[in-house]
Amino acid sequence: MARLENKVVLISGGASGIGAETVRLVLREGGKAVLADRDAARGAALAKELGPAALFVPLDVTQEADWQKAVAATVDAFGGLHGLVNAAGIGVRNTIEDCSLEEYRRVNEINSMGTFLGCKSAFAAMRKSGGGSMVNISSVLGLRGASAAMAYCASKGAVRALTKYVALYGSNVKVRCNSVHPGYIDTPMIAPRLAQTIGNRSGRQALEDLHPLGRLGEPVEVANMILFLLSDESSFSTGSEFVCDGGLTA
Ligand SMILES: NC(=O)c1ccc[n+]([C@@H]2O[C@H](COP(=O)([O-])OP(=O)(O)OC[C@H]3O[C@@H](n4cnc5c(N)ncnc54)[C@H](O)[C@@H]3O)[C@@H](O)[C@H]2O)c1
Repeated sequence: MARLENKVVLISGGASGIGAETVRLVLREGGKAVLADRDAARGAALAKELGPAALFVPLDVTQEADWQKAVAATVDAFGGLHGLVNAAGIGVRNTIEDCSLEEYRRVNEINSMGTFLGCKSAFAAMRKSGGGSMVNISSVLGLRGASAAMAYCASKGAVRALTKYVALYGSNVKVRCNSVHPGYIDTPMIAPRLAQTIGNRSGRQALEDLHPLGRLGEPVEVANMILFLLSDESSFSTGSEFVCDGGLTA
């Protein structure tokens, strides 16, 4: 039997990178995927390519009304909700001294508040569906600091702690919730950094050197971990941190 047979999964940030790879794996494993993203052109094109088991819905994760519509559209189209992946996010570089309040708010509204709204909006539909699995994409920078990613670190640390709260709250209605902590993954999010030169190294080389495995991660390597967490194979895991970082935090 396929690993996500009869499961319906809503994926924010599903138009690109880690979210898009997760959509592909959900379909490969027999599930239905709703990809929700603010990039409507890219999201609609991917859903069209993947066929009737995939649906695109427009979503700005900072807007509660968008979330409510996305959850309702998911249940209307596929009859329930068993998985939520909060993958939408932005990466911004700043320090404690140069980050404006406006920029701090923007990063935290998308990465952290967007994850809160996702968990909140999906909870009732998931409980009604008999339970399910929420997967919140944090980062290695939700576990440790990085000198030039102040607001991002704060936002991803909040995702890690929110995840533990939701896991406890959902434990008696079979709603599990775990966080995933990727190292540097080769997606459009980090493309600007790869194109820079840092000292005498290319940006790509500098980021590769952070990982003991000596390379960047591929989106599918994170999506495989998310797939495990969405499936019943992870049935005894909730409130935990799943690291996928080529040894970076070791
Ligand atoms: N790429 C990495 O190195 C890396 C490392 C650790 C964690 N992450 C996290 O993984 C997640 C996925 O990132 P990715 O690397 O696949 O990046 P990506 O840029 O390829 O994809 C992010 C997606 O989120 C969408 N998005 C951004 N803001 C949104 C909003 N307000 N509402 C709805 N959608 C929005 C974008 O349109 C895009 O489709 C993010 O949360 C990111 O912080 C990425």
